[in-house]
Amino acid sequence: MSSHASSTGPQPTRRDLISLVALSGAAIGTAAIIWPLIDSMNPSADVLAAGAPIDIDMSKIAAGQQIVVLWRGAPMLIVNRTPAALKTLQTPSLVSNLSDPNSTVRQQPQYAENWHRSVKPEYAVLVGICTHLGCLPGYQPNPNPTTPAPNWPGGYFCPCHGSKYDLAGRVYKGVPAPYNLPVPPYRFVDDKTLRIGENPTGTAFELSTVVQM
Ligand code: FES
Repeated sequence: MSSHASSTGPQPTRRDLISLVALSGAAIGTAAIIWPLIDSMNPSADVLAAGAPIDIDMSKIAAGQQIVVLWRGAPMLIVNRTPAALKTLQTPSLVSNLSDPNSTVRQQPQYAENWHRSVKPEYAVLVGICTHLGCLPGYQPNPNPTTPAPNWPGGYFCPCHGSKYDLAGRVYKGVPAPYNLPVPPYRFVDDKTLRIGENPTGTAFELSTVVQM
């Protein structure tokens, strides 16, 4: 564990950390984009509080870009993955380092039980809450030989205790986090509109049924 985890005094509970992540815009690296998007969609406070579905205009997300929106008080990570990132997700050297590469643990709807853990390969939709103690994993999409970890292929790095996930939210072996990042219920209303909080026709999934969030 890092020095973050070894400080003296009462340790925050997992719920404390999750609440902190959900409530603190400052803790979210791309916070600047959250509020314009939410505001542009203009859902009422009542709608957000009730957890009603929210719509995202995907045409505004460039290749390689992530946006973060809040749904039911939790950060939803939405990424437009590049062709190179999709190729990396299938690389044997990456897959062999993952704890649950085939998403056998119930952390996603059935329609996301595939190698890209999503409806459309190019778009990742993940709950941005580390399955260790609830911090927000940082978006580090670019390969790097040293940072944030050696031979980094691109993915998410949790700054709290060093858990690593790939760009499909699949957790690495040998890190504190035990499970893949959850995938929320969502569907595409049309080619450019993503709706979080509704399943595709003929499917059923509730985020509350995941093993851990
Ligand atoms: S909260 Fe501990 S590694 Fe993410």
